[in-house]
Amino acid sequence: MTENIVWHHHKVSRAERAQTKKQSPCLLWFTGLSGSGKSTVANALDRKLHEFGYHTFLLDGDNVRHGLNKDLGFSETDRVENIRRIGEVSKLFTDAGLIVLSAFISPFTSDRRMVRKLFPAGEFIEVFMNTPLETCEERDPKGLYKKARSGEIRDFTGIDSPYEIPPHPEVTLDTSAQSVDQCVEALVQYLQDRQLIYSRPE
Ligand code: ADX
Repeated sequence: MTENIVWHHHKVSRAERAQTKKQSPCLLWFTGLSGSGKSTVANALDRKLHEFGYHTFLLDGDNVRHGLNKDLGFSETDRVENIRRIGEVSKLFTDAGLIVLSAFISPFTSDRRMVRKLFPAGEFIEVFMNTPLETCEERDPKGLYKKARSGEIRDFTGIDSPYEIPPHPEVTLDTSAQSVDQCVEALVQYLQDRQLIYSRPE
């Protein structure tokens, strides 16, 4: 479909845009079951990075599905398209020089790999929220597990739709064993160790 479309090179480069922001753009990709803490930890990290003075942006499933992806459901095909679009949007935001946090169940390894491939090495950071299904189901913040168990909703991840465990995530967290602050600290440390962020107020 792109055969008659020619790529137009921007006069301002990706590196120049990042330089203006005085930061290293990257994508933190949170994946895990519904209720595993993706949005909570992503939001808390977003807040912290913002307070440190970094320009960030947060994308999450529940919000994006109200707008850009409101035409998509939870069939396998729709989930693939959901992640493809989010990957491309995340790429655009990092091209603009931002640190992006994306929180989507993204249950399929192949889709997460597809997003990873859009990024230079080291810029895609897969954060696996390895919170056990029992904990997520116990929390059931939106009452969706209950509905999935009773058959009221179908294709629910972890119940009657698969979640493929990431084989090599950059970071693994478990909010049944770690507090939100501990998760945020681990991620800040990761970003510092890789010099993706340079400073933080003491
Ligand atoms: S994904 O699988 O395509 O990555 P996404 O992260 O965008 O999912 O959306 C997940 C959110 O949609 C969940 O947090 C939940 O609130 C809601 N949801 C509604 N129906 C389903 C379903 N069948 N499976 C998973 N999540 C669902």
